[in-house]
Amino acid sequence: MSESSLSRQYCVVALPGEGIGPEVVEAALKILYSVARLNGFSVKVDYGAIGNPAYTILGSFCPEATRQLCEGSDGIIFGAVSKGGLLELRKHFDFFANLRPVRTFDSLLHKASLKAEKLKAVDILFVRELTSGIYFGASRRDEDEKGAYGYHTMQYYDWEIRRIAKVALQKANNRRGLLTVAHKENALPYLPWTRLVTEEAKAFPEVVIEPMLVDNLAMQLVTNPQHFDVILASNLFGDILSDIGGAIVGSIGLLGSASLNTSGFGMYEAIHGTAPDIAGKGIANPLGTLAGVILMLEQWGEKEAARSLIQAQEKILANGYRTADLAPQGEEILVNTAELVELFIQELTSNKI
Ligand code: IPM
Ligand code: MG
Repeated sequence: MSESSLSRQYCVVALPGEGIGPEVVEAALKILYSVARLNGFSVKVDYGAIGNPAYTILGSFCPEATRQLCEGSDGIIFGAVSKGGLLELRKHFDFFANLRPVRTFDSLLHKASLKAEKLKAVDILFVRELTSGIYFGASRRDEDEKGAYGYHTMQYYDWEIRRIAKVALQKANNRRGLLTVAHKENALPYLPWTRLVTEEAKAFPEVVIEPMLVDNLAMQLVTNPQHFDVILASNLFGDILSDIGGAIVGSIGLLGSASLNTSGFGMYEAIHGTAPDIAGKGIANPLGTLAGVILMLEQWGEKEAARSLIQAQEKILANGYRTADLAPQGEEILVNTAELVELFIQELTSNKI
């Protein structure tokens, strides 16, 4: 082994969680081991408890031991949870920058319910604020003389908007240079996303800022998805808008995300949830978690490995292989999770020979 390959060793913490989480994490890790070996680096994986299993064993959805395990690692691969654990982890590590790429595959254009010609070459990056806003604002259930009530508060410090704006501007600057800003200033004027982003954009003269009311943006995303480049959104708006990405690519099972803090440390996961209806059957689509792994490799600077995974995926999908969520028809071939992993390993290996 050469000296440079010895220095490229990464420690990952896998948090499989619940439902299909363990299956898709295991599948994505197998593919990661293979691509690591072929590209001359190694990956060591530690496992941590999160969500319901963690609660059962350790009495907490996001135990201290799990957080400590993640502390010194090079990245966290997250499966899925149904109740608690995820938001605590995001907050604990200050993973404020959530990147959700949505790129269509030519071979899957007909899977989406939108018209194929509107989907060709769609390449959108959602930049979602992840550690503030209504998810983390003051909230409670209470009761007064009018009855029982509840509230969640959508609060943002200006600096929180500015720091996520900088991430989105940087990304737009390295892409097509269009940054669409989701806002709702006609009803929520004290959250001035447009003004704050426009001020930050002075440092990025090449980037065009396009403020858009979030309701209109949701409509534009389904009527004209090719228009968009980078979309910046608050925590709740980004959650809702990025699921439309699932409709655009044909299955939510294909999408992944990276959640990063200011030091570039991150957690990588699929966008989908625990899918209890198919859990334990070995038929889940691991490509969402794999999309997270690809983002992790890019974050590490392992560009070649990331590229080879993207190419392998394109080839496998072009050859007609589909997990059940992609509803194979006609000539397409139904595969389960393990078969899809095997196809990846074959494809990656044959490309290296
Ligand atoms: C997501 C999920 C989570 C969110 C849930 C599981 C809390 O929908 O990552 O998009 O709303 O952030
Ligand atoms: Mg969501």
